[in-house]
Amino acid sequence: MPLPELLKSFEPHFLLSDEKLRDVVTHFRKEMEGGLSEYGKDVAMVPSFVTGVPDGSEEGTFLALDLGGTNLRVCEVRLFGEHKFEIKQQKYKVSDELKEGQARVLFDYIADSVDAFLTDIGSDISSNEPMHLGFTFSFPVEQTAIDAGKLLTWTKGFNAKNAIGHDVVKLLQDAFDKKHIHVRCSALVNDTVGTLLSRSYQSGPALIGAIFGTGTNGAYIDKTRTVTKLGEDKISEAEKGGEHAGEFMVVNTEWGAFDNGRHCLPISAFDNKLDRESINPRKQAFEKLVSGMYLGEIVRNILLHLIDSSVLFDGYSSDVLNTHYGFDAAFVSGIEGCKTSDEVKQLIIKVLGVNTKYITEGCTEVVQWACRVVAERACKLAGCAIAAVILHTGNDKVPEGEEDKGVDVGIDGSVAEFLPRFFDRVEEALVVVLGKEGSSRVKMGLAKDGSGVGAALTALQAKKAMDQRPESHSSFVPGRRVSGQTGSGRT
Ligand code: BGC
Repeated sequence: MPLPELLKSFEPHFLLSDEKLRDVVTHFRKEMEGGLSEYGKDVAMVPSFVTGVPDGSEEGTFLALDLGGTNLRVCEVRLFGEHKFEIKQQKYKVSDELKEGQARVLFDYIADSVDAFLTDIGSDISSNEPMHLGFTFSFPVEQTAIDAGKLLTWTKGFNAKNAIGHDVVKLLQDAFDKKHIHVRCSALVNDTVGTLLSRSYQSGPALIGAIFGTGTNGAYIDKTRTVTKLGEDKISEAEKGGEHAGEFMVVNTEWGAFDNGRHCLPISAFDNKLDRESINPRKQAFEKLVSGMYLGEIVRNILLHLIDSSVLFDGYSSDVLNTHYGFDAAFVSGIEGCKTSDEVKQLIIKVLGVNTKYITEGCTEVVQWACRVVAERACKLAGCAIAAVILHTGNDKVPEGEEDKGVDVGIDGSVAEFLPRFFDRVEEALVVVLGKEGSSRVKMGLAKDGSGVGAALTALQAKKAMDQRPESHSSFVPGRRVSGQTGSGRT
């Protein structure tokens, strides 16, 4: 097949029609509803037991731990109120041996890192009480309380043994106690929940916190009553003012597992290869099309196919191209940011290690094409996830009798931050699904440091509940919409 036709034949899996986007959103909403009413669903819709979002007045100093991105991060977060905070932090590398070894060894390493942080950096927390720590653990967990939850499955290249089905707070606390580290893990939080809280703390109540980084996921605020799988007793107890009470609940969707059943996602032969060769085949179907861990690998599969079809690089590959996960999403972002064909050529030489004599006429356009279609699909699908949550919560329209306060979405992660035109492409999908008017209410913005600040804010909520102060349940406001901000755009 001549090259242009060959490339065209792949495009339906990547350049998604308006109809496809709407179809994906319809399925998304169904899976979200399924997860709210039953346990054990792919889109797990995990209640976080966080009952609202902060208003920016919160104060205190807390430790925060962040596991689930590229590094382990230990932070001391000082919340000053007035939407301000300060973070001291240290990153620690998590080796592949730790990711895939025994969970006990991984949690011992985490505890040792906290110990090293407290020794090296020092802490401003001075008290005889144990220090309160919020644990951002960015994997699917079935949470049963603000400080308890069992790991459902590993994602993003982690595969430590004897962790699935165990309470990760207990694993961490046991490691602290065994080493006599005077720290109490008082809150467990997903990075998306952290992002939602951090965005609200800094710039007013948000509806959604989303991550498009190594992995992808989103959290949002729903009525506790909508989480029907909690059961009537728990719901009415929450509404009446029992433990962790609240009319609203932050729900961690775990949308990375959307359409594991493969009913609607545009999965190509290149995606199938990636999935089959991954450590979690048939899992995280949506994440494998959207998140940073996989974008480079999809492009690699496409390029290898074109090389093997003798239509790229004269049929010659390179060591990097022959290596599983040989390059990552940074290459895709780099190519997407190139202004000239020479810039593309230089990146191909530098990152892919292709011999310059094989980069013949037309090769740079083919590599740009591969990166563009993979990036385009990731961004459009990211838009579908956001649109599905907006439709589910009825936020595509101004609620009757209310003033239009817009819908705020806080986003973090390397794909959102570094992939050129990420937000524009997401917005294009929002326009298709929500219409011009609906999408114009959505305000998206980068919300960096969600994992640290969000963990500290959750630890604060948990500590107040533990201290059993009367105000313990009212520290956060059930803010579902943005105040003082209207119109579309980004911050
Ligand atoms: C995990 C989520 C997490 C997301 C972003 C996914 O692989 O399942 O819990 O929020 O990555 O870090």
